[in-house]
Amino acid sequence: MKGHELDLFCVPRHYENDLDKVIIPHGLIMDRTERLARDIIRDMGGHHIVALCVLKGGYKFFADLLDYIKVLNQNSDKSVPLTVDFIRVKSYCNDQSTNSVKVIGGDELSNLSGKNVLIVEDIVETGRTMQTLLSLLSECNPKMVKVVSLLVKRTPRSSGYRPDYIGFEVPDSFLVGYALDYNEYFRDLSHICILNDQAKEKYKV
Ligand code: IMP
Ligand code: MG
Repeated sequence: MKGHELDLFCVPRHYENDLDKVIIPHGLIMDRTERLARDIIRDMGGHHIVALCVLKGGYKFFADLLDYIKVLNQNSDKSVPLTVDFIRVKSYCNDQSTNSVKVIGGDELSNLSGKNVLIVEDIVETGRTMQTLLSLLSECNPKMVKVVSLLVKRTPRSSGYRPDYIGFEVPDSFLVGYALDYNEYFRDLSHICILNDQAKEKYKV
C-alpha cells in the first residue's frame, strides 16, 4: 500500500501540511465496508445481533457498516433484530500505545448474555485493547462474539491477535482520518492518511 499524493483528493485546508499520503480514500473504505456487511450477515445473521461500537475511533466505521447491514436486513426474506451499544476504550497518548487499557460506559454487560455480539473497532495494532475487551465480554456468556476491525497494522509489536473480519492491512505508520485521531485531531478528515512527523510535534500534548 504505497498511498496516493494528497493533491489528488480534497482534504481540509487546516490539515494540508500535516499529512504525508492518502492511504485509503473514503470511497474505497465504503466499498470494502459494503462487502464486510455481507460477510458478517452470512455468519451472524441467524440470531439477534448486538453491535458494540468502540468509541471514539470506531464511530464512522460503525455508522457506515450498520447502514449496509440495515440495507441487507430490509431487502432479504430472513432478517434479525440489530441493537447497538457504545463503549469507550482508551489506550493511546500521542502516538504511543500505553500499557493500561480503560473501558468506560456502555449498558450492563449482562445484556449481552445469549446474544450474537459484534465488536466494531477502527484499528488493531498490538491487539492488547481487543484482547482485554474480549476477556471482559466472555464473562457475560454471549452466544457468539465476532470482531470486525476496519484496519490491522502490520507491526512487530503485534501480539499475534487477528480479528474475525479485517477491512485492510496497513503499514506500520500512524494513521488518521475517518474518525481515527491524533490527540483528538483529524477525526474531521474523510480519507485515511499517514500523519507526518512535523504534525506529531504540532499536536503533541
Ligand atoms: P492496540 O491495543 O495496540 O491494538 O491499539 C488499538 C487502539 O489504539 C485502537 O483502538 C486505536 O484507538 C489506537 N491506535 C492504534 N494505532 C493507531 C493509529 O495509527 N492511529 C490512530 N489510532 C491508533
Ligand atoms: Mg480504537
